[in-house]
Amino acid sequence: MDQSGKTAGVVARVRAMVRDGTLTAGDALPSTRALAAELGVARGTVVAAYEQLDGEGWIRTRQGAAARVVAGVPVVAAGPGVPAGARAAEHARALMGGRTAGPAGARADGHAAASGAPAASPGAGAGAAGAAAAGAAGAGAPLLDCRPGVPAVTAIAPKDWRAAWRAATDAPLRNGLADPLGLPELRVQVAAQLGLSRGFAPDVARLLVTGGTSEALSLVVEGLRNHLGRSPRIAVEDPGYRSGRRAMTSAGATLVGVRVDDDGLDLDALAAAAPVDAVVVTPTHQYPLGSVMPVARRHRLLAWAAVTGTVVVEDDYDSEFRHRGTPVPALAALDTAGVVVHVGGFSKTLDPRLRCSYVALPPGAPADAVVAARLARGPVVGEPVQVAVAHLLRTGALRRHLGRVRRDYTHRRERIASRLGGVPGLEARALNGGLHAVVTWSGPATARAVVSRMVTAGVLVSALDEYEVAPGSAPAGIVLGYGALTLPELDRALDALLDALG
Ligand SMILES: Cc1ncc(COP(=O)(O)O)c(C=O)c1O
Repeated sequence: MDQSGKTAGVVARVRAMVRDGTLTAGDALPSTRALAAELGVARGTVVAAYEQLDGEGWIRTRQGAAARVVAGVPVVAAGPGVPAGARAAEHARALMGGRTAGPAGARADGHAAASGAPAASPGAGAGAAGAAAAGAAGAGAPLLDCRPGVPAVTAIAPKDWRAAWRAATDAPLRNGLADPLGLPELRVQVAAQLGLSRGFAPDVARLLVTGGTSEALSLVVEGLRNHLGRSPRIAVEDPGYRSGRRAMTSAGATLVGVRVDDDGLDLDALAAAAPVDAVVVTPTHQYPLGSVMPVARRHRLLAWAAVTGTVVVEDDYDSEFRHRGTPVPALAALDTAGVVVHVGGFSKTLDPRLRCSYVALPPGAPADAVVAARLARGPVVGEPVQVAVAHLLRTGALRRHLGRVRRDYTHRRERIASRLGGVPGLEARALNGGLHAVVTWSGPATARAVVSRMVTAGVLVSALDEYEVAPGSAPAGIVLGYGALTLPELDRALDALLDALG
């Protein structure tokens, strides 16, 4: 698509969000720089779009100030039969003005994989290597934890972080129980964010807050199990996300691994594994190998799911960090048949210790059963956490944070590419987005041997085979998380890797 087509796309998106009331008079739009980074387009594209919107009277732009939606623009009346976005708008108008906050609370702690500092977090599931590393740390060896899953938590501006928690503690105490579906204000903010950055407007009534992606997946399984009256059979990527598999198996699912190729999930292999009740995919950045599912394959997957009555669970875990390549629309944005359950959260953008994620559900009976499961389980994310996250979204603090860390992640990605790029037999993958790299090699060294040599050198990474469903589905390689590393630490990790490979 050329620049004018992209500009028209941004214009149409903002117009639609104003029309349906997701954005209302006075709301600030993201800075041109932040929105351009979020959409993966040139800044000039967004500048041109804002100028056009200003000229058309939808927004007002002023030098040095945020562009804002002007008063008096037409808003679609909410009511039965109106699009999801219009219902979201009703909540937006009711709640954005109210700005209530919940009772006092403290930061949620204790997620095993969430060490902001480069120190060991032995509970994070690195198996024998983790235990060995914990021993090494106990013996006083400096240990650099480069396992994936830890973003640059400490990069958030302290004043923004404190303001978010003040919002949680400033609210008057009140009697009553939390909304089991999630704090309405947070759900409205997430819906607006998905509209801007992922191109679809979820129905706030079917947008549920969950305790991380793992709880989201277990909730979907519980809903499907109740809906079907039996254990759901679910296709998962191989190699793929281990904690997600664990959560779904514990919730009573039967899993079947489906291989992935350079374009993500192999749809012929999926068809061969059918019938399945659901398929869980990471189309934006296959975890862990990093492939991006092209639009044509996305359409094929959705068409197949519509015909076979399969639920498609889109795990959109790190789409905010796209370093290279044309952005591909979310499956949920392409879904005309109502088959996609979209899962996202704040584990990669803020802090996995918050345990705060969400599920956007399509209409229909299977998804109704997921809502019922949420109501039956009750709320799992403390209300103060939800108030704080909503505050970070509403004030634009999260957007500013993402703008900063994106640049840092790009530098780290470039360092990995430049240091490993020319090494014969080595391939650095998954660098097109996200916060981790996969390094594979063609020599005889096994991944376990390389991981254990790196542990001895004080660097902890994951072996690629830890992500396999069927043994042998992944090439020999390691997964290296760079979200929380400084450049010197990253260099140390790369030195250890190159030494380990001899
Ligand atoms: C594929 C995938 N999905 C989701 C997540 C986030 O999980 P959670 O929200 O449970 O921390 C991760 C974290 O590493 C992941 O790798």
